[in-house]
Amino acid sequence: MLEALNERILNEQLIHATISQPRMRSNEVKRIKLKPVMVKERYHIQVEYQYERILKHDNIVLADFPAKLEAIFADFRQAQLRFTEESVHIQLSKKNKVLWKQNAEQVTNASLTHNRKKQYVLEENTAYPFLVRLGVQTADGKVKQAKFDKFKQINRFVEMIDDSLSYLPKDRTIRILDFGSGKSYLTFALYHYLKIEKGLDIHVTGLDLKKEVIEECAQIARDLNYEHLEFLVGDINDYNDETAVDMVVTLHACDVATDMALARAVRWGASVILSVPCCQHELNRQLQAPALDIMLQHGLVKERFAALATDSIRAEILSLVGYETQLLEFIDMAHTPKNILIRAYYTGKKPSAEQFERYERFTQLLHAQPFLAKELKIERP
Ligand SMILES: C[S@@+](CC[C@H](N)C(=O)[O-])C[C@H]1O[C@@H](n2cnc3c(N)ncnc32)[C@H](O)[C@@H]1O
Repeated sequence: MLEALNERILNEQLIHATISQPRMRSNEVKRIKLKPVMVKERYHIQVEYQYERILKHDNIVLADFPAKLEAIFADFRQAQLRFTEESVHIQLSKKNKVLWKQNAEQVTNASLTHNRKKQYVLEENTAYPFLVRLGVQTADGKVKQAKFDKFKQINRFVEMIDDSLSYLPKDRTIRILDFGSGKSYLTFALYHYLKIEKGLDIHVTGLDLKKEVIEECAQIARDLNYEHLEFLVGDINDYNDETAVDMVVTLHACDVATDMALARAVRWGASVILSVPCCQHELNRQLQAPALDIMLQHGLVKERFAALATDSIRAEILSLVGYETQLLEFIDMAHTPKNILIRAYYTGKKPSAEQFERYERFTQLLHAQPFLAKELKIERP
């Protein structure tokens, strides 16, 4: 089996693969995804390790991949692989007997895997009216040099939206709220993707404190005939519209404004939350943990630690109230240090007593009194 797989993979025929069914329930990695990627002009296989709440990535050069594949199958018993000309399903018995099922597929352009350029959901040389109006592209669709990072960020965000589609309602208008939308690059991007490209029935609201910025966004929406996109001037803290929202988005809403938005989302029972927090000051002020003094004596380390601990606590609180939550890398560090995205899907799963205990242990250790916990009245049942 390994030989047959390696032959295809070393010939650069892999399109994507999912490897699942850990042999041991205690395995921390629950699933693995593979796909080819170009890193510094070199073909690699990207291994995505899916833990219960986090994802980790490792890019492996082809020559090293057979050893990695063998190690993966020492821990997993099922695989679904898509190659350029066929798909393969593999099931291993406990004693490693191989069941191999193979189906011919329509030949997929192998150049996809050879493509040296990143494939973006929004393409580089297609003019998108909203990107032209927002000054990211020129009228003929060229991404402006100074706006390339923004273009990447928008694309990454659209990828995240795409991954979340199955969690959104299909039988009624999907309501989406972008809290602290600012210049609203992402608000326009999600409208374009869901309404114009996917034809979904949506209603999107962007909310921000800045009156002039919001008026300009509203004008662009009118000019582009984006009828179901509205912009409101207002404070997240005072936003009391009772109409339930299905997806809540925040990108770089400062400090506890992110928590306020998360709390609103939870109260609405929003199915999807995508939130990239910004600066965090709350925990930095509360933090007292003698066991961590070696770290916390350095202001810089304390600030970063507080930011990471805050996002971990936010993720934990969301899972305590029934969300499957992951912290993902939003965009690589070279572009912005504010690069953690909290992604939460509502499942309604009830937390266990141990989950509460470990949450309490952690917050007590840090002397943390999270705003979000107070807003959501988090306490042991
Ligand atoms: C760093 S900007 C990000 C803007 C936009 N989301 C983006 O990523 O391009 C943060 C935005 O949040 C808005 N904001 C901060 N606190 C807010 C609050 N309490 N209510 C509404 N908007 C808020 C600010 O006015 C600002 O436009």
